[in-house]
Amino acid sequence: MVASTTVEITINGAPHAVEPGRPLVEVIKEAGVYISNLCYIDGLPAYAGCRTCVVEVEGMRGQVLACSTEVREGMVVRTDSPATLEMRQEVMAFILANHSDRCLTCHRVDHCRTGDICLRDNVVTHRCVTCSKNYRCELQTASDVADMGRSNVEPYLDEARTYYQYEQPPPDRGNPYFEFDPQMCILCTRCERACDDLRHTTAITLAGRGFSTRMAFGAGGAIHESNCDFCGACIDVCPTATLMEAPNKWLARPQRWVSTVCTECSMGCTIQVGVRDGRGVIVRPAAGNDVSRNQICVRGRFGYDQVRDRQRLLAGRLGRGEDGFDAETPVVLRDAGAKLAAIVAEYGAGAVGLLGSGQATTEENSALARLAAWLGTPHLDASVGSVWGAVEAARRESFGGVHLPGRLTSVEEAATIVAIGDDLSASNNVLGVRIKDAVVNRGATLVSLSARRNPIDDFAAVELRPRGGDMGATVQAIAAVLLSRDGEAPALPGADAVATPASPETDAAAEALAASGDGTVAVVVAPSRHNAVAAGAQVRAAANLAIALAGPEAAPAALHVLPPENNTIGLRDAGVHPGADGRDVDGMLAAARAGSLKALIVLKDNPLLTLPDRTAVRSALEALDLLLVIDEAATDTVALATHVLADVSAFAKDGTVTNADRQMLRLRAAYQPQRGAQPALSHLRALGSALAAAMDRDDPALPESPAAAMDALADGDVRYADATVSRMLSAGRQPPNGAMSQAFGAVPALETSGEGGLLLLTGRDLYSDRTSAALGMDDADRIGRSACLDLHPADAAARGIEDGAAVTLHSDGTALPITARVSEDVAAGSVFASLLWQGGALQALLPADGSIVRVEVERA
Ligand code: SF4
Ligand code: SF4
Ligand code: SF4
Ligand code: SF4
Ligand code: FES
Repeated sequence: MVASTTVEITINGAPHAVEPGRPLVEVIKEAGVYISNLCYIDGLPAYAGCRTCVVEVEGMRGQVLACSTEVREGMVVRTDSPATLEMRQEVMAFILANHSDRCLTCHRVDHCRTGDICLRDNVVTHRCVTCSKNYRCELQTASDVADMGRSNVEPYLDEARTYYQYEQPPPDRGNPYFEFDPQMCILCTRCERACDDLRHTTAITLAGRGFSTRMAFGAGGAIHESNCDFCGACIDVCPTATLMEAPNKWLARPQRWVSTVCTECSMGCTIQVGVRDGRGVIVRPAAGNDVSRNQICVRGRFGYDQVRDRQRLLAGRLGRGEDGFDAETPVVLRDAGAKLAAIVAEYGAGAVGLLGSGQATTEENSALARLAAWLGTPHLDASVGSVWGAVEAARRESFGGVHLPGRLTSVEEAATIVAIGDDLSASNNVLGVRIKDAVVNRGATLVSLSARRNPIDDFAAVELRPRGGDMGATVQAIAAVLLSRDGEAPALPGADAVATPASPETDAAAEALAASGDGTVAVVVAPSRHNAVAAGAQVRAAANLAIALAGPEAAPAALHVLPPENNTIGLRDAGVHPGADGRDVDGMLAAARAGSLKALIVLKDNPLLTLPDRTAVRSALEALDLLLVIDEAATDTVALATHVLADVSAFAKDGTVTNADRQMLRLRAAYQPQRGAQPALSHLRALGSALAAAMDRDDPALPESPAAAMDALADGDVRYADATVSRMLSAGRQPPNGAMSQAFGAVPALETSGEGGLLLLTGRDLYSDRTSAALGMDDADRIGRSACLDLHPADAAARGIEDGAAVTLHSDGTALPITARVSEDVAAGSVFASLLWQGGALQALLPADGSIVRVEVERA
């Protein structure tokens, strides 16, 4: 029986029950009937420019465009009538007259074979058989289905075609991500609409007139000189070879597709990896994560190609530094087991610490936590533990719990949005897209507070650029203004703590927020990644602002905190936090320096990249008798290890991660493991067995598979109780805490330290790949956009520094050479550089006490 929400229509004689009002072209495709639609993008308004989607509809005059026709009850549609086919051939011939491939309209197409030399026309310069898009090209398919080769409808047969009459523009191959070859372009404008309507970036537009009409990036120059952020949304929709991924241009015909998750940030965008010969050759956005949906960023799209197998660990290692040598996994495990057993026997289990990671799966972290429990040591944490511990404390103090009920999907539906972060478009790019969606599509009011100017600022009613360390206090000041506007603050504990002096900027922000919307509020905060004091202050202030804007009851659901690493939430849920009287990461490193912590087991963590005061971190790791690291790459932390076990990359791994939206998402192994490596979970299980043998104890029997690890986790944690594969496939989400309390909190002022006139700010950049950065690779940021120090023009002028000058960044005797980028993207008095620049080099300048370091910048 047909549901009441559907109507019945007929397509080529077959009945279909469909939703009324939908674009006819989408309904035809969903019915399994091929229809060319070269300028249409599913879900977006019709452009109606190519006319290849012509169909006949009984009762409508002539032929109609299926993309701009809505479905109505009783429609009788024909896509295959002789008149429709003829019309389609004519419009296709018009398009192909200015396309490079003559074969598509050649009557000899059936007589030629792949690789044959064309004997008919010596001006053919380009053919499908020489084109990187061959066999996966929408224009080619549309031509084949329209029978263009045999139809003899080419209007320019035996005449010079327009393609040959005009000089074709040169291709742009000047960036590492994608190529733009305008001679292939059919001017369908899909790319422009993807960039405008899906990304709100407006990097590519239609330019010129008549036969010189072209798609152009920015003002018509190279792609990398425009504001394009290489998200690749335009590549997804380009029906020809005009826009093509560069790394895989000639390889990207996958043998199979594997659905998995991007692990480069806590959005956990779901992706499909196209696999060929056991390696990824292409990545596309995929369904599953209902926030990311059809979008990913440059890291998700091109990160698969960043680190090659030969750059990963291909074997275990035994021994430190120059004394170290490659060793088979069983040898490393036997030696590690014996030495750890000896340490426990001599100093007790409290001499051993363990670090998990937000870059490891929940199952791996869970196995690590079980190993710690079996060993009997409470010293368990992760490098993100300091920052995330402060964030959890702030949420607990504000709302009585750490698992807040709000969904990130509500951000794009909110009428009032406050975005807080170092650079939210860089740290959590796809959420930035959803914030832009809310402003553009629904008229939301956005207030953006960012340490560095970022693309969402263009959509903000008010943008604020707090000076170094002032982020929490500035958010708090806006909350204070809002509360005082209402005459009296809600009667909540701590209300008198919200009393930071206002400024014209905070007044303007409060004004805009007070005037906005219907009360649906989203306060999004991506807290500091390296400074626990700052992170806690930012989240506490953001909670206060959520209460001021949404009211006490709605505030917990209005606050959205974005974790610093992909699986930070899964890490904590898996039990990776200090036990009773256990040391956190800072405590463990201090104990190592003091000599009371003798051994550290590190699962995919890299304290030298993540933690401030690098010198102190290094001396702690060097002081350990045993440092066992399980990782995929030879990071700085691996270089100090006494024992190394080679893990596989996230692309070669099964398991789950829990993202910023508390969605449990499933990683699936797309790649073959690199030679000599095994998944960390099997290393942990084997390590447990090796320890049990050396200590003459029962085997801890750690889980042998991700499914077994998840079962074990579900047994002990109600939030994972129904963590089934099917729920994860449909983006199952954990329940939040039950009833929440509300309280305002004071926000501490951050101290400054060091000597110099400028405050050093840092955060995640959009382009650097985390693993490459950890390896210290020069091309961790392949486009080089973040390999510089942002300096305000006033500060640059005062120091005689020009844009692009080589400068030195000084603080307390440490000097780092870097290139200056003079721009108003940072506030006067602050400088900004990426936390991943040169493998985390900035950490050498950053103090561990949470103060904001003062630096000086000089011409080199
Ligand atoms: S873009 Fe498509 S139709 Fe054009 S030459 Fe390449 S494969 Fe053939
Ligand atoms: S890659 Fe993204 S930003 Fe660049 S032109 Fe394409 S859609 Fe626009
Ligand atoms: S570049 Fe591709 S998507 Fe853009 S107008 Fe040309 S053919 Fe269409
Ligand atoms: S937003 Fe984050 S998870 Fe999504 S593709 Fe980009 S880096 Fe990956
Ligand atoms: S898809 Fe309908 S006109 Fe192009």
